[in-house]
Amino acid sequence: MTKNDLDLIKKWFSYYCRSHYSSIEEDQKNIALKELHSYNVCRNAIRIGKEIGLSEQAMLLVEVIGLLHDVGRFEQYAEYKTFRDSSSINHGMFGAQEITKKRVLQSLTPEERDLILDAVKYHNAFVIPDLKDERKLLYLKIVRDADKLDIWRVFKEYYLNPSGMASAVNLGLPASDNYSPDIISCLREKRIGKLSDAKTITDFKLLQLSWVYDLNFSISTRIAIEQGYINIIEQQLPQNDEMKSVLEVLNAYLKERALVA
Ligand SMILES: [Fe+2]
Repeated sequence: MTKNDLDLIKKWFSYYCRSHYSSIEEDQKNIALKELHSYNVCRNAIRIGKEIGLSEQAMLLVEVIGLLHDVGRFEQYAEYKTFRDSSSINHGMFGAQEITKKRVLQSLTPEERDLILDAVKYHNAFVIPDLKDERKLLYLKIVRDADKLDIWRVFKEYYLNPSGMASAVNLGLPASDNYSPDIISCLREKRIGKLSDAKTITDFKLLQLSWVYDLNFSISTRIAIEQGYINIIEQQLPQNDEMKSVLEVLNAYLKERALVA
């Protein structure tokens, strides 16, 4: 893969986004949110890739994966008007199909194509699948971290300015201080929670915090702390002893992870 291939893919992506623009304000906001997210994930992925010392050639692949990881979101929204996979389609799998259908990676080698498609397919999988290929796993881990970091950025902006945000951000969950014991257990056991367990916005906030336990690189932990992503979610939670104790565990874990070289 060459820099020229990357430039062509970037052009295609920009055209693809534009082809999904809408004159309906609400729809346009949701599409613009995903377009910006794609560019930011790309940037985060580059930052992680550089930090872990990837080659220039590898960085080209990282950039493509970051840019295309959510390509499935655009048709998902066009068809179902939601970003909730459980009530529509798996946007990772769908994105990989879309890339193949549109022949976006035509000029790359079959190996490069396969690597990119697997990263897109599994970027949103609940657990990292056993791909039996260290190289593939590395790229997948990078995009998964880069993605979480930017989803936290979206929520940070939402919490700072709730009325200015696109409607699909909260997945239509009801606002309530109630939360599920299952998500609390996940946090206690340092595991990530399942989106299907989130019944309220508070559950969703706790779920977002649990992603800390799924970060693959210490640089990602450092970015999360530095950008205040975790702090702001914590501030949005109901105040009680149960919360205090899970947050203590979480903050201690974050600090410890951030110190790893
Ligand atoms: Fe995604």
